[in-house]
Order: sequence, then structure tokens, then C-alpha cells
Amino acid sequence: MTNTLDRRTLLRMAGASAGTAVLAGATLAGAGAANAAGGAFLHGVASGDPLPDGILLWTRISPTPDATPGSGVGPDVEVSWQVATDPDFVTVAAQGQLTTGPARDHTVKVAVSGLAPATTYWYRFGYAGGWSPTGRTMTAPPTDAAIDRLRMGVVSCANWEAGYFAAYRRLADRGDLNLVVHLGDYLYEYGTGQFDAAGTVVRKVEPAHEVLTLADYRIRHGLYKSDPDLVALHAALPWVITWDDHEVANDAWSGGAENHTPSTEGAWADRVAAARRAYQEWMPVRMGEDGAIYRRFRYGQLAELSMLDLRTYRSQQASGTAVDDPARTITGDAQMTWLKAGLAASTARWKLVGNPVMMARVDVGSLPAWLLGPLGTLLGIPQNGAVLNADQWDGYNADRNELVDHLRATGTRDVVFLTGDIHTSWANEVTTRSTGLSNPAAAEFVVPSVTSDNVNDFLKLPAGNPLSALGAGLIRSTNPHVRWTELDGHGYGVLEVTPQHCRMDWYHLADRTRAGSASRWVAGFSVGAGSAKLRRETAPTL
Ligand SMILES: [Fe+2]
Repeated sequence: MTNTLDRRTLLRMAGASAGTAVLAGATLAGAGAANAAGGAFLHGVASGDPLPDGILLWTRISPTPDATPGSGVGPDVEVSWQVATDPDFVTVAAQGQLTTGPARDHTVKVAVSGLAPATTYWYRFGYAGGWSPTGRTMTAPPTDAAIDRLRMGVVSCANWEAGYFAAYRRLADRGDLNLVVHLGDYLYEYGTGQFDAAGTVVRKVEPAHEVLTLADYRIRHGLYKSDPDLVALHAALPWVITWDDHEVANDAWSGGAENHTPSTEGAWADRVAAARRAYQEWMPVRMGEDGAIYRRFRYGQLAELSMLDLRTYRSQQASGTAVDDPARTITGDAQMTWLKAGLAASTARWKLVGNPVMMARVDVGSLPAWLLGPLGTLLGIPQNGAVLNADQWDGYNADRNELVDHLRATGTRDVVFLTGDIHTSWANEVTTRSTGLSNPAAAEFVVPSVTSDNVNDFLKLPAGNPLSALGAGLIRSTNPHVRWTELDGHGYGVLEVTPQHCRMDWYHLADRTRAGSASRWVAGFSVGAGSAKLRRETAPTL
């Protein structure tokens, strides 16, 4: 049987589009009712981590005016929830109620089970006689289902002070996606003016200082979920998300971070605990009892998605020959074992890996100094021209070799890394010394930042300037496994997965500093089943 997730999805999306207005209407009506009942739902609704029979739902209640994020005040309250097969909630598939309060910053997370696979649902929360805005979500198909097509938005790196989240809005408006995959830097820890748009603060963060305490992180999460574009994308689609460093602090590793000073900011473990607690409260993500966030999802026979955590277990960044030290790790032993075993044993056609930092090598030793400066700032490359970015897999050669050699030894094909972190767009073939250049072990698609500064921003030049283009050409000339890179654009990726191919299309914004900015298609690359060689694609026809 060909279980056309695609056809079913499009049919439902067609319904939802007739009903995009219906959804919007329901949202406004729901918010109005909630406001009349006490202004309860100020941070939207969200869903995530879809399973064939379940989904995780999220919201936050503001029961009193002083119960603001991070305040620690306000009463414990009863909240109800409903999941329905229609946007008017005529046919309710599941419902329940629970209590939240200041102990968890008035956030609500519900792991709904007993749902039908590959089904679009609408959901809402109730409090004091009012309803929240309505969200739309979708369960995963049965594990053995044959799926024709899966499409997902792919994003990373949303810096509040650098602009508006039009990338999220453009994805929310598409109407053809099943999922959003977010690769980290969902938020940034910086204080105002510490990381903005090429020296200009487009809009100020709250709190104004660098976030450090539990209250700080809760306030920052609350700020992000006041953004209408971010709220719209959460309400439109389920997300699968992992964190990178800035959810705690820049260049985090297991024992510290570049942007953490124990003598003035306290113990690293305390900061991590505060950041992760706020993350657990505020994000639609399932975490293990031990706090582990690496986890795996399945979309029928078509695809499996392994989401990595490359911050919690990693050794400190190093340089020089230390990057080859087999005692150092980016994944930690348990996660590496889980990743290798899962990839080799998977019966899914495509093994997608949500990979916060870039896997492919970037040799930059022969690049000119003018490019090493901004690239060094962006990538963490020492200004003396060292060839590696020690914060990405380049700094953990032994782990990369172990993973690639395992793929080769087990004959594991059709592995595609989905990557964020470096604020620029790349289509890479993953090669190591053992693969040589002509037989890559996997493909890698790197999405640009939603807003965070990239090369032209550091150069303080307009996008598309000749220096950035020359830099991209030089990177390609010294790295033939990099099939394409673009260093100036902000935006998002759209990944299409079919039994025949896995294709990424990159879309860049006209202007990240303008709310509602348009986006345009800039490039597409695909990889066919059975080979990790990339093919350039022409503009998609939708
Ligand atoms: Fe980032």
C-alpha cells in the first residue's frame, strides 16, 4: 500500500487553507475569549515531537498581570486541553486537565497519546472560561507505512536583536510542510548590544543583561514567545528541536563555555541547570529523565530523524593536533553508540541527522587574511590562520572518523546531516581521509541563520558583495567536497524527502531587519538514494 502522507496531507492542508482563514479566525476568537477571562494566553501554543500515536502540546498561562515569565508569582491554576480532528472542535479526539503554577513558570506541557497516525489535529487550552489560540499539528505515520513525500522547514539561529523572524513567518505561510526541524540557537543569551545586526540593535532583548539565572532564562524564553512570527510557526506545525550552545552560553562544552566566567558568573553547572530547566519548561520537547535531549523519530519507511546534542557531553574545544586526540569527544560515548547503532540498524530509506554544528571539513589555511578575519569571528577560527573551526566536528576528528568509518563498514547509505550554527548556507559531501573525495559517506545541508550575523554583516558590507562571493569561491576551491556555499543570506531551508531523493532548497530574506520581509529561492541541491553525491537543482515548482 502506498500510504500517501503527501496526498492526505495536501488534502488536509487544502482544507486548512480554505481554512487558513478559519484557523486565523479561531485564533482571534480564542484569544479574545481568553482575554475576557483574564488575559491568560500571551505566549501562544506549540506542539512537538510527533509520534504515530501521540504529540506533545505546550502553552503558558498568565493568570494574573503580575505572573510574568520569571516572576515566580501567581496562583496555581487548573488548565484544560482539547485535541480535535477539525478546527471547530466538533469532533474532540482527546481532552484532559492539569494544574500548573509558579513552580514551573506557569508553563503547560501535555504528552497526548492514543491518537491516530498521519493525522492532522487542532488543539487548544482552556482557562477560566476562555480558550487559547488554536494550534494545528500532525502525528507521524505508522512505522511500516510507505510514504511518498515528506516536507519540512529547517531553521537555526534566531537572534532577537539582529532582526525579525520573517523566516518563521514564511514557513508558517507555506501550507505544504509536515514538520519544522530546528537545529539550535533558538534563543541567544547575550545582553543588549552584545550581539546585534552588524552593530545595530533592531529590537531590544529582555532582560537587558546577559541571561544567567533561572528567572533570566525564563524571561528570555517569554520574550521569544511574544514574537508573532515565532508564535505563528509554532501554532502551524509540530516542531522537532534540539539545542546548540546559545540556549545556555556561547561555545558551551560539558564543563564551561567561552561566554561564561565562573569568577563573576558562578558555577557553570548552576547556569546549565537554570538554562535547561527553563528550556524544559518552555519548549515543546520531550527530554529523558536524565535530561537527555538526543532522540529519534520515524516517518514510516521513508525517513528516520536522529536529533543530536553536541553540547552536553563534549570535551573542551581545542586547537592544533589536539583535535585528533581520540580521548576527546563531541558526542560522548553513550550518544555515539546510540547514533552508530541506530543508523546502521535503521530500516528507513533516509537516515536524517539533526546536527547542530557542521560535519564537513573546512580547510581555510590558504584563504586570504581579509576573509580569515570575519570568518574567524564567525566560526571561531584563530586569527593566525589555523585551518580548523574547533567548535564544529572539525575540532573532534576522532569522533567524525569513527562515525564515518562505521557508516562505511556497515554499508549504511542514505545518511543526510541537517545542520545549523554557522549562519551561512552550504551543500556538502561528507568526506574524510578514509573516504577520499570521490566517494562521500553522507550528504550535509547547512541552513543559514534566521537573523544572526554572517560574513557580510561582520564585514559591514551589503549582501551579495564581491568579497563574500570571492570568499565563497575560495572556500570551494580549497574544499571540493563543498559543492555550494553562500555567506550573506539569512533565511531557512525546505527539505523534501521522497523514496527517490532528499532535496534541500534554500530561501533567503530580502531584509532581516524588516518585519514581514519577503524571501526568495536561491539554490537547491539533492542527493539520490544510494549515493551521497550532490546534484544541483533548478527552482522548485509548487
Ligand atoms: Fe548561532
